[in-house]
Amino acid sequence: MIFPDYRPRRMRQSKAFRRMIRETVLSKDDLVLPLFAISGKNRKNPIESMPGHYQQSIDNLVKTAKKAKDVGIPAVIIFGIPDKKDALGTQAYAKNGIVQRAVKEVKNKVPDLAVITDVCLCQYTDHGHCGMIDKNEVDNDSTLDLLARTAVSHAKAGADMVAPSDMMDGRVREIRELMDESDFANVPIMAYSAKYCSAFYGPFRQAADSAPQFGDRRTYQMDPANGLEAMREVSMDIEEGADIVMVKPALAYLDVIYRITQEFDLPVAAYSVSGEYSMIKAAVNNGWLDGEKVMMETLTSIKRAGADMILTYFAIDAAQVLDGK
Ligand code: PBG
Repeated sequence: MIFPDYRPRRMRQSKAFRRMIRETVLSKDDLVLPLFAISGKNRKNPIESMPGHYQQSIDNLVKTAKKAKDVGIPAVIIFGIPDKKDALGTQAYAKNGIVQRAVKEVKNKVPDLAVITDVCLCQYTDHGHCGMIDKNEVDNDSTLDLLARTAVSHAKAGADMVAPSDMMDGRVREIRELMDESDFANVPIMAYSAKYCSAFYGPFRQAADSAPQFGDRRTYQMDPANGLEAMREVSMDIEEGADIVMVKPALAYLDVIYRITQEFDLPVAAYSVSGEYSMIKAAVNNGWLDGEKVMMETLTSIKRAGADMILTYFAIDAAQVLDGK
């Protein structure tokens, strides 16, 4: 097909034609909204680097969850910021921990909204790493049981799905086994499978107070240079029992999302992380970008790459745009 026999512009000339040949359609069904829970009442601390997002006490978090449901978003993912941290991250798997309480309240007040929980230890450990420390190293195997206990405690609180984001080897199997033994065989696991050691998490670490106190996360999160390694991580997580596999961040890793969808048949989630949101917001606030257009273009591109769902801080805004509001 070459010019002038074929003229690509013919099918672009009207809005109706453009609608008819559109390949990727973003839907509210694709969106998951991240929320940050803190203790107390009527608290709403703005997260400076993420305009429009807050650390919220549970009463306020429930209001945002209700709003998410009202605009038609199917799910939220809850992160907790505990009052106390310790070496073993005990608040991560405490029966009355911040996430456990938040989940209970949201499920109580907004039952139709699916609640996913982030399963990790970094917000809960005083050293800020996602696993146990042994001789200044993040120890894999002694962390697994704590992650599994965290996941089960979330399920007991009513979580509809758990999402391990720690990147320890073997954690999906450990979580699946303990969940099954604990009568939660029906609670799916969304595994952060290809989670890169990314500088785009900066604003989140401020929001969740989870920056590592020494070193970095390079011994467990993946090198941004690697794509094949993502395939191995995904195939391991699938064999261990993951129901959804995730790529994180999204924008700088669209090729990884695409590759996974070509090779595996499970649903793929993409986490468009804090830094992706902050970057766009900062440019918009400077008047340098059209916020709504860039938001929709970004989300559509992540979907075009193959993501079946997108965890995004734009979830409510995008849902409203999709509704024409
Ligand atoms: C916890 C976790 C992180 C994010 C999600 N879960 C931070 C990290 O790995 O340092 C990042 C989310 C974001 O940046 O929006 N391990």
